[in-house]
Amino acid sequence: MLTIFRRAELPKELRSLMIFDRKVFGESDRFDAPYWQTLESYWLLEGGVKVGCCAFERNVAQNSLYIATTGIHPGFQGRGFGRLMKAWEVAFARHHGFKRIVTNCRKRNTAMIRLNKNFGFKAIRTEPRYYSDPVDSMVVMELRLAPGSAFSRV
Ligand SMILES: CC(C)(COP(=O)(O)OP(=O)(O)OC[C@H]1O[C@@H](n2cnc3c(N)ncnc32)[C@H](O)[C@@H]1OP(=O)(O)O)[C@@H](O)C(=O)NCCC(=O)NCCS
Repeated sequence: MLTIFRRAELPKELRSLMIFDRKVFGESDRFDAPYWQTLESYWLLEGGVKVGCCAFERNVAQNSLYIATTGIHPGFQGRGFGRLMKAWEVAFARHHGFKRIVTNCRKRNTAMIRLNKNFGFKAIRTEPRYYSDPVDSMVVMELRLAPGSAFSRV
């Protein structure tokens, strides 16, 4: 089966992104339409089916790529798609010459924290009570990209 990453087209796919987001994150953590419109979003498609979605903000700090969201549809979780998407996010950052990747998640989100750590991300900061419904801390994670790797620009 063909597995591809494709950039989401805005505004055409805004509704589709928001429906997917609600399925993955529920009501409390989903993004609103104005925020989605600022993001550079990508679908992970498996045989034409939308299996995952991730979204970036470029240069939130100099040379930093911010991963605003990484989500795998609940029906496809636990099958390696999260690992595939994380590998693609890191490759995307290297390919575009970023020196650092930053991302956030709930402290209770052990799956995401473990996945990030597997790729070398480190927790650099915690913000208590950042999330509501339920209340939770936010963990900020960072991956510093070494220059001169196979994916870096020459
Ligand atoms: C977190 C998420 C992206 C992982 O995707 P996935 O396809 O389910 O994960 P994979 O099958 O690729 O597993 C990759 C790694 O994730 C971690 N992981 C996945 N499920 C886990 C679980 N239930 N408990 C702990 N770790 C888990 C593990 O480190 C795993 O690697 P390992 O099996 O080698 O230990 C996915 O579960 C998801 O979309 N969750 C809801 C959205 C979310 O919380 N996103 C993060 C905030 S931006």
